[in-house]
Amino acid sequence: MAKNLKDLYLDFFVSKGHTKIESASVIPENDPTCLFNTAGMQPLIPYLLGEAHPMGKRLTDVQKCFRLTDLDKVGDKTHHTFFEMLGNWSLGDYFKKDSIAWSFEFLTKVLNIPVEKLAVTVFKGNELVEADNESVEHWIEQGIPKERIAYLGEKDNWWGVESGGPCGPDTEIFYFRSDEEVPKVFDPKDDRWVEIWNNVFMQYNKTSDGKFETLKQKNVDTGMGVERTTAILEGKTDNYETSIWKDVIEKIEKLSNKSYQNEEYAKAMRIVADHIRAVVIITADDANIVPSNTDQGYILRRLIRRMIRYAKKLEIDINSDFDLELAKLIFKKYGKYYKEIERNKDRILEVLKQEKEKFAKTLEKGIKEFNKITEILKKQNINTINGKTVFRLYDTFGFPPEMTKEFADEIGMDLDMEGFHKFFNEHQEKSRKGATEKFKGGLADHSLINIKYHTATHLLHQALKDVLGNDVNQKGSNINSERLRFDFSYPAKLTDEQKKKVETIVNEKISEALDVSMEEMSVEEAKQRGAVGLFANKYGEIVKVYSIGNYSKEICGGPHVKNTSELGVFKIIKEEAVGAGVRRIKATLS
Ligand code: ALA
Repeated sequence: MAKNLKDLYLDFFVSKGHTKIESASVIPENDPTCLFNTAGMQPLIPYLLGEAHPMGKRLTDVQKCFRLTDLDKVGDKTHHTFFEMLGNWSLGDYFKKDSIAWSFEFLTKVLNIPVEKLAVTVFKGNELVEADNESVEHWIEQGIPKERIAYLGEKDNWWGVESGGPCGPDTEIFYFRSDEEVPKVFDPKDDRWVEIWNNVFMQYNKTSDGKFETLKQKNVDTGMGVERTTAILEGKTDNYETSIWKDVIEKIEKLSNKSYQNEEYAKAMRIVADHIRAVVIITADDANIVPSNTDQGYILRRLIRRMIRYAKKLEIDINSDFDLELAKLIFKKYGKYYKEIERNKDRILEVLKQEKEKFAKTLEKGIKEFNKITEILKKQNINTINGKTVFRLYDTFGFPPEMTKEFADEIGMDLDMEGFHKFFNEHQEKSRKGATEKFKGGLADHSLINIKYHTATHLLHQALKDVLGNDVNQKGSNINSERLRFDFSYPAKLTDEQKKKVETIVNEKISEALDVSMEEMSVEEAKQRGAVGLFANKYGEIVKVYSIGNYSKEICGGPHVKNTSELGVFKIIKEEAVGAGVRRIKATLS
């Protein structure tokens, strides 16, 4: 049914003149304040604000979303870290009437939900916007009776990203999930009514100082969670019992030789299922995320380790290929929707393997460290492990605090979780700042030597692709007057021979005296012409593409030297790991 819901939805909105677009990356582009996309509208913000979208004014998609805030809740019947959001958008085209009519038609005619099981909420108004009587009229026209319509305030019927951006009043659609008789009057507080769809009428932009300005166009932004709606359609209260998860849970049952029906194991099984899917989707993403200690890489690491820990709890042999087998199941289910899964299969399996090996090593070291610390504390009659230690076990040994807590419980000790959170938040803050600075590295300095290093970086990037394969991608770059530093995705240490080859190619290209030229073009064209680049997904954006002879083509802001003959002799001085699947090269020109 999961597939069905997605296909039915997309086909329906295509039949209403919408263009189906690909899901954007699960990592927001150019927005270091936000680690993951949490809603379908996020990648469309510039277009909701008025920029023309090259695919038109009516769009529909299924967007990859990830909610970090739900990570600790995963394990119950309804929460997920990664989830899919169906959406349809009007970018200054149709508004309330069509939006409501089509939602109603899709629910009652395509999904065959009886009108009697539907109810809606609308915005009751505030000093900025009047009560949404217009939506009420449209709902009544469609056949929703008055007593099934509730007016609610900002908390329920105003939608926008907290920090600002496009926003507006919304109308939410509820489904009565119960076999009991449907009450005549809709009570939004009655939890038998569950929300299935949110239609936002985006007419405002919340500025950074919290003011609301009217947008030049009236938009519609809708969102429907695939997991929840599928559960409703299949008559389940547990999302993990739907067709989306059935085969994954069955596989985990087999691997562990335990039953999901046993509540004692259900939680661990849901965590393993949720996390393996999230890990596959995040690792498959063209943003090239690998486990590390910062930003999204940190989350990925945490997901893999948590999955392994819960697999262990289920007595699955964690040294077997259980994780790879589960990952392959996810490939099969999601490959159709996300082409990057197919392209990046090998990398995903490699990341899983390497991170598991790493974790296995630190797990032992961490247990030793834990025992050492707790013995010292016990001798001093201290019964609480302080926050700094909990954080160190987490940060250095990869112990999630809940795991440390379990170990502590066993020996009758407590954790200072408040202290842990203090250290954790400080660390997060640092990671966020790190993300903002990440790609600025060195390029602000336009001295000749820096410009030379910048051009040499492009040659190095291409040479690495030539020698190691096309999967190699830039993960970061930093230049100073002494050297260049280039981080790239690659799962293994480079051999001396590979390093030599890369060096030779770069020096050959330097001696060929290749001209460096720049052209401006749309991202689509740049991609079509084979340019590589970090932010290659923005529709319609005009970018600079630098070509070095016919050898390298890269989306980049510049500046560069005019001819490679200016560069001198290129030499690799160091090659090392900076995280799982990320290597770093330092090189000089002389
Ligand atoms: N952007 C709206 C939501 O996420 C549709 O609920």
